[in-house]
Amino acid sequence: MNDTVTSDQHLVIRDLHVAPAAAPDAAAPDKEILQGIDLTIGKGEVHAIMGPNGSGKTTLAYALMGHPSYVVTRGEVRWKGRNLLELSPDKRARLGMFLAFQYPTAIPGLSVASFIRSALNAKLQGIDKNPDVDPTDSLRGGTSMREFRQKMREKFALLKMDESFASRYVNEGFSGGEKKRLEMLQMAVLEPEMAILDETDSGLDIDALRIVAEGVNAMLNPNMGVLLITHYQRLLNYITPDYVHVLARGRIIKSGGKDLALRLEEEGYAPVLAEAGYDVDETDETDAARVPEALEVAR
Ligand SMILES: Nc1ncnc2c1ncn2[C@@H]1O[C@H](COP(=O)(O)OP(=O)(O)OP(=O)(O)O)[C@@H](O)[C@H]1O
Ligand SMILES: [Mg+2]
Repeated sequence: MNDTVTSDQHLVIRDLHVAPAAAPDAAAPDKEILQGIDLTIGKGEVHAIMGPNGSGKTTLAYALMGHPSYVVTRGEVRWKGRNLLELSPDKRARLGMFLAFQYPTAIPGLSVASFIRSALNAKLQGIDKNPDVDPTDSLRGGTSMREFRQKMREKFALLKMDESFASRYVNEGFSGGEKKRLEMLQMAVLEPEMAILDETDSGLDIDALRIVAEGVNAMLNPNMGVLLITHYQRLLNYITPDYVHVLARGRIIKSGGKDLALRLEEEGYAPVLAEAGYDVDETDETDAARVPEALEVAR
């Protein structure tokens, strides 16, 4: 957890500044959503990120994955000895990064099985598209169709999902909770080494939350780092984080252990913001407080 760690073992984020790509002058500091994130995630570590709505959690997840709507205006991200920011999103995925979306999108016409199979094949070939690997041949580093079906069956069982989802179109007509489970199914099959879960718990009923959390726990292993974005400490009752970070005002304003999540649940963000020297009038309750102001302007 310090600057001297090798980037081969850790995802190292240094002074990361991110702005929306659509902003006409994205490099202007006032356009930056993230204003200097420092975070190191080691193999086998679970880092939870909590923070008020609009604080930049999803922006961080997207920037790490290379979403084209965001530009990195300053800072660096290194992983597996590479400058992650120079890689296209698909290369990042081939390198073992995975993002479970907060709002998964539907892909009509593409079945769940084909989608996951293509993603797995791409990942098996790796970032350099190793020509020696035949993704469909288990003797050449791949997964045969039979093995793939078997694997899907296991993962459906792990997440207590009905196998009929395999032939449905990706997220088409899925309920909110089903979409989140499909994200976890993808993760279970792809076996990433760095998993970013953006509010995977939101929209899940109590039973589904437990099943998904148990699924994630079963996937945890010493080779995988996890960045778990959540609003609720309740998820952390199931998945114990090694570290909890508070993201607010575009920065990580406090880091701690599991206790920090309990404290946030108890007290909200205001005390932590105040301790970090921020104006507590502008807390997560601010949006409500700003409404009269906005109406004033509209008048
Ligand atoms: N493409 C974009 N263009 C302009 N503004 C954006 C863009 N993406 C995000 N923002 C703004 O950046 C801020 C952070 O958004 P982000 O989605 O990262 O927040 P969040 O912490 O994930 O919030 P939530 O808890 O509600 O999911 C918000 O004010 C949002 O409106
Ligand atoms: Mg978000």
